[in-house]
Amino acid sequence: MMQKPTNALLLVGSPKEENSTSNSLGTFLAEKLQEKGVSFKKIYINRCLCSSEKAASLLRLVDESDLIIFAFPLYVDSLHSQVIKTLELIAEHAKDKEDMATKSFVAISNSGFPKANHNSIALAVCRIFAKQVGFTWAGGLAMGGGGMISGRPLAEVGGAIRNQIKALEIAADAVAKGEPIPEKAVSLMAKLGIPHWMYIWMGNRSWKKEAKQHIAIEKMCDQPCTRREVLNL
Ligand SMILES: Cc1cc2nc3c(=O)[nH]c(=O)nc-3n(C[C@H](O)[C@H](O)[C@H](O)COP(=O)(O)O)c2cc1C
Repeated sequence: MMQKPTNALLLVGSPKEENSTSNSLGTFLAEKLQEKGVSFKKIYINRCLCSSEKAASLLRLVDESDLIIFAFPLYVDSLHSQVIKTLELIAEHAKDKEDMATKSFVAISNSGFPKANHNSIALAVCRIFAKQVGFTWAGGLAMGGGGMISGRPLAEVGGAIRNQIKALEIAADAVAKGEPIPEKAVSLMAKLGIPHWMYIWMGNRSWKKEAKQHIAIEKMCDQPCTRREVLNL
């Protein structure tokens, strides 16, 4: 049974830290919760895994929180190594503790490709993690087309992500009351505000622009050499 939270911990799982879509989405949700009386602290996991002292301070904050929000990017259809490492650290730390069900866990995954369902496995991993550790699963939100945000505050991005803004507002309302994230928030989060073809067209355009800046436009279709080519056979 989920409880009404008072102290949230936002774990930002992107190596891009402040400039990440994970940060934008997680911070928006945490700030909405703050407006409803839930205080929050934020940690960039990228800065914590390099030393045992910093990892210990992350775990201390997990102990002090009754809501953990983990926002991360999708890498190769799954969680990336730092996110997995953090979950493993938390699981090991929680092993002998008893009050874990008083903590709720929310996962927010975002991917580069436009279809949100690419994130399904990553969210399932988080749900099973929460179950195994004994946390109360409050729900998972996934969006495709994360490149539309790229670290900007959501209010700055505007209309193209109106569905994600609405989804996070609905989620904040529910979680602040001690209720799981409603299905309506999950479906809105997954719905891009622009057609998929337009997002892909914009993505291709910016790859080409960047390649041009690096004088690499002719190399864009290069592929790794085969062993025969390396050996010059
Ligand atoms: C190594 C790597 C692997 C990725 N794999 C995927 C993938 O499998 N599917 C996908 O849709 N996006 C993939 N992406 C794109 C990121 O999920 C996307 O850019 C996301 O918006 C980054 O979020 P962030 O700003 O929070 O880091 C990958 C990016 C990197 C760097």
